Amino acid sequence: MGKMGRYRWLCLTGACCLLFLTACDGEKEQEKKDSIRLGVSIYRWEDAFVGTLRTELETQVKEYEQRTGVKVVLDIVDAKENQSVQNSQVERFISLGCDALCINIVDRSAASNIIDRAMDADVPVVFFNREPVEEDMNRWDKLYYVGADAKESAVIQGTILADAYEEDQRSLDLNGDGVVKYVLLEGETSHQDSLIRTEWSIQTLKDRGVPIEKVTGGIANWDRSQASALMEQWLAEYPDEIELVISNNDEMALGAIDAIEREGVVRDIKLVGIDATPAALEALRDGSLMGTVNQDLQAYAGTIFEIARCLAMDEPVEDHVELEDGKYYRSAQVGVTADDMID
Ligand code: GAL
Repeated sequence: MGKMGRYRWLCLTGACCLLFLTACDGEKEQEKKDSIRLGVSIYRWEDAFVGTLRTELETQVKEYEQRTGVKVVLDIVDAKENQSVQNSQVERFISLGCDALCINIVDRSAASNIIDRAMDADVPVVFFNREPVEEDMNRWDKLYYVGADAKESAVIQGTILADAYEEDQRSLDLNGDGVVKYVLLEGETSHQDSLIRTEWSIQTLKDRGVPIEKVTGGIANWDRSQASALMEQWLAEYPDEIELVISNNDEMALGAIDAIEREGVVRDIKLVGIDATPAALEALRDGSLMGTVNQDLQAYAGTIFEIARCLAMDEPVEDHVELEDGKYYRSAQVGVTADDMID
C-alpha cells in the first residue's frame, strides 16, 4: 500500500470508529429511560406521620417530573396492616413491571417473602420507616432502608425535657415535691422505634439528673384515639399525680391532649412527642404540646425517591446518596419547641 493508500485506509478506519462510537452513544441515549414505574405500599393509610411522608414523596416526584420531563408512574397502595395483603401487592407491582419498590413493611420481622419475590424478579426494594431485621437486609445488595435513628429521636426528646427542667424545675415538677411523675405512651410493641425511644428518653432524663417516677404506661400503637382512651382512664385513676406525658410519637400525645380537654379540668400537664406532624406543630403553637422532634421529611422522602429512581434508571445509588453500610440512610433530626414556632 502506497503512502496515499495508507492515509486513505487510516481515514476510513477512523471514520468507521467514529461512526461506531456515535452509534453506541445513541444507543446509550436511547437506553436512558424517559419513564419509570415505582410501586409503593404503606402499612396503614391512616397513620399520620407516614401520611405526611407519603404526601411529601408525591410532591417531590411531581417536582422531579416537571424539572426533568421524565415520567414517574407512582402506584401507592394501602396494606391495611395486613402482611399477606402487602405480599400480594408486591406480586402485583412486579407483574405490572415496576422498576423498583418502596415498601413500608407491615411486619418488620416478615420481610423474607417480599425479598424472595423481588430477588426472583430482580426488582430492587427500598424499605422505609419500618426497618426489616438485619439478617433480611443482608440477603441481597439491592435492598435499602430509609428511616430515622430511634435512639437519636429519643435523646432529643429527653433533652427538650431536661433543658426545660434545668431552666425551671417547676415547669415539669408541677407540685414542687422534688419528683416529676410521668406516664408513658408507647407505639407498637413490634416496631423498632417503640422500645428504643422509650429506653432512651428515660435514660436521657436520668443521665441529666431529672428526678423522675413512672406513674403508669401503656401501648397505644401510634394511634390518637387509643392514646386518648388510655389517658382518660389514667386521669380518672391518678387525678392529681400526672405531671408529664412522654409519648413515643405526636399522634398519641395529641390523643392525651384530647382526653385532658375532654375532662375539662384545668391542668398544666406537660406533653412531648416525636414526628413534628402538622397537627403537632399546631399544638406547639397553641401551647398544648411542649416539644417534638422533627425528622427532616424533605430529606427522608427525597431519599426514598432518589434511591428508587437511581435503581429504576440503572444509576449507581452511591453516586447520589450517602449511605451507611452501603444500604442505610438515616434522616437528620432536630428538637422543636414552642419557642421555635414564633415567626
Ligand atoms: C414512627 C412514627 C410513628 C408511626 C410509625 C409507623 O417512626 O414516629 O408516628 O408513624 O413510625 O411505622
